[in-house]
Amino acid sequence: MTAQFPVARPRRLRRTAPMRRMVAGTRLHPSELILPMFVKEGIGEPSPIGSMPGVFQHTRDSLRKAAHEAAEAGVGGLILFGIPQTKDARGSAGDDPAGIVQQAVADLVSDVGDTMVVMTDTCLDEFTDHGHCGILTPEGEVDNDATLERYAAVAVAQARAGSQVIAPSGMMDGQVAAIRAALDADGFEQVPILAYSVKYASALYGPFREAAECAPQFGDRSAYQQDPAGPVGEALREIRLDLQEGADAVMVKPAMLYLDILRQVRDLVDVPVAAYQVSGEYAMIEAAAANGWIDRNRAIMESLVAIRRAGADMILTYWATEVARNIWRR
Ligand code: PBG
Repeated sequence: MTAQFPVARPRRLRRTAPMRRMVAGTRLHPSELILPMFVKEGIGEPSPIGSMPGVFQHTRDSLRKAAHEAAEAGVGGLILFGIPQTKDARGSAGDDPAGIVQQAVADLVSDVGDTMVVMTDTCLDEFTDHGHCGILTPEGEVDNDATLERYAAVAVAQARAGSQVIAPSGMMDGQVAAIRAALDADGFEQVPILAYSVKYASALYGPFREAAECAPQFGDRSAYQQDPAGPVGEALREIRLDLQEGADAVMVKPAMLYLDILRQVRDLVDVPVAAYQVSGEYAMIEAAAANGWIDRNRAIMESLVAIRRAGADMILTYWATEVARNIWRR
């Protein structure tokens, strides 16, 4: 039956797949995906991470292979995390020129450094025996300014090894300024900083702490990472401060539970904005899918589209290689 008056029919544009594809407002491209990768010193075989099916702690060799696959799929960048054989209170392995991250970065830059962006996470938690992101005071608090010196040293070591983007994730005040100054003083004026500006103290980092073997041995990170219930203005302030300190791009982390923040950040700044779909976001979808409770591939794509739509220019995701392969075909 025909309506007696002109009925609005938005469904006309949804009827066929080509029609939906043509009018889609949010598209994903492999080049805006960034793959987080783990390399572990002193292992002979890649080691699967229980809480992140499909993700591995790599050997230097298996890391190279996985990076090649990512490059082949058109993934835009990778970000490297390293697990050293020995840890100490100051995280010495982090800026050791022979440290695992420095060695692996050199491999990756020579292998794929012309096709994708090779980035390093700059923090101390993977390298400290206490698992905190900085140097501790005798009372067991993280000492902000003592930590800045260590971050500067780690960033310079990573840049010397060839890292093409430095990504400080420790949430110390002044970390971007300290790292920028150290990079410039060492001749790395051209190396950009992607600042983890807005980073919440999230339950969703659980699986990562297994992957990077960096769970705090006491306490938690709430005294430096942001409170999920904290004022929204605090997130925007962190962004402004990082830009004043010289950040070239900013990040919001986690992604899915903070899409409101991501949108506000996107509207505030004119630099590229990244969002980190963290380990717990990955684990939740994989676990539900393994139980047959959700459609894995659709859930992955829906989550990435949502993050993109909220305003991310780049997305860090453990699914980067797989998704890059699939979206080429779409
Ligand atoms: C800290 C760091 C963490 C993640 C990235 N960088 C862990 C933390 O803050 O405890 C988490 C990433 C993820 O969960 O996927 N160096």
